[in-house]
Amino acid sequence: MRNDPLAYLSTELDSLKQQGLYRRLRVLEGEQKSDATFDGRHVVNLSSNNYLGLTTHPRLRERALDAIRTFGVGSGSVRTIAGTMDIHLELERRLAAFKRTEAVVVFQSGFAANAGTVSAILTKDDVVVSDELNHASIIDGCRLSRAEIKVFPHKDVGAARAILRGLPAGQRKLLITDGVFSMDGDLGALPGLCALAEEFGCIMMVDDAHASGVFGENGRGTIDHFGMHGRVDVQVGTLSKAIGALGGYVAGSRALIEFLYHRARPFLFSTSHPPAVAATCIAALDVLEQEPGLTDRLWDNTRFFKSGLQALGFDTGASESPITPVIVGDGTRAMALSDRLFAEGVFAQGIAFPTVARDRARVRTIVTATHTRAELQFALDVFAKVGRELGII
Ligand SMILES: Cc1ncc(COP(=O)(O)O)c(C=O)c1O
Repeated sequence: MRNDPLAYLSTELDSLKQQGLYRRLRVLEGEQKSDATFDGRHVVNLSSNNYLGLTTHPRLRERALDAIRTFGVGSGSVRTIAGTMDIHLELERRLAAFKRTEAVVVFQSGFAANAGTVSAILTKDDVVVSDELNHASIIDGCRLSRAEIKVFPHKDVGAARAILRGLPAGQRKLLITDGVFSMDGDLGALPGLCALAEEFGCIMMVDDAHASGVFGENGRGTIDHFGMHGRVDVQVGTLSKAIGALGGYVAGSRALIEFLYHRARPFLFSTSHPPAVAATCIAALDVLEQEPGLTDRLWDNTRFFKSGLQALGFDTGASESPITPVIVGDGTRAMALSDRLFAEGVFAQGIAFPTVARDRARVRTIVTATHTRAELQFALDVFAKVGRELGII
């Protein structure tokens, strides 16, 4: 009999189980909402990126259904062969106007947008100067590009400057940061980094996955929030979080977008969105422009919940957004906190190494515009009870 060549994977999994870090996938029954049923338990859901509740918005549902009736369910090809439909181009025009850039190209996901763009625009002769907490898709894009990677400590503009000063003036450089950091909920050092990019002639790139729909006028993102229009060469956004559907996009100059049409491998080698996804995203942009009250509610809820956690004595780190971590240090403890919260009716995912540093394990909470005050107060009461029980507060 042949030995299982993958046996080492089971050994790795056993080790995770021993450390209390093994996770089963929780299964959502029904809709992705602020109160939802996972694994048969009805919980207050603090784990989705559905910031504005658009996953179930009636206008988005209707537009998706209309698109299915009119265009069918699939695009049938990659964009560069037969898979570019009018509705894909309409979405890109709408996103370009929303982001106030010349052009936009949509990818199948935010991950593909980051990884596909960084790897397309750089070569092994170039260098990337990257915040240490940038998203995995940026890191993978950097690796795929084979450019030299220089990492600066989180948000440390001075350290980024010292790196740039040590590089040859003629070398092509990409300076890159998340707009909102997904595990800590703090904002990238955009004003300082944009100034550096100008001083050293860098390409400036921002991944605004968690900022679109959340920060800036009508949710235009951190570039709008900080007044940095025209100073960021490559903006990445996602359609998978506040927009409520699926996809990612790059906003920038017409030349950047046309270059990506020719060189970004996820764009070239993977089938385009079903028309219903594009239609849904267009409807989401209508909602962002016509229902600004949703963003106001998101921020009201954010202030209420974040200050509630802080008043209870939890360590919420440096969060400035609807993402509020509850940092407990050790990974096993974070998973125990998450499990106890779940048992009491609150779903907040535990996050440990390698997603965050070994001593910075946490439970991550994300509030949405559609949480009611009663749901958030219930969640705070449960956090208080379980936090005391586990000796965290
Ligand atoms: C900062 C950041 N960038 C990019 C992505 C990827 O976006 P998507 O889920 O659309 O692939 C995520 C999502 O996890 C993220 O948190």
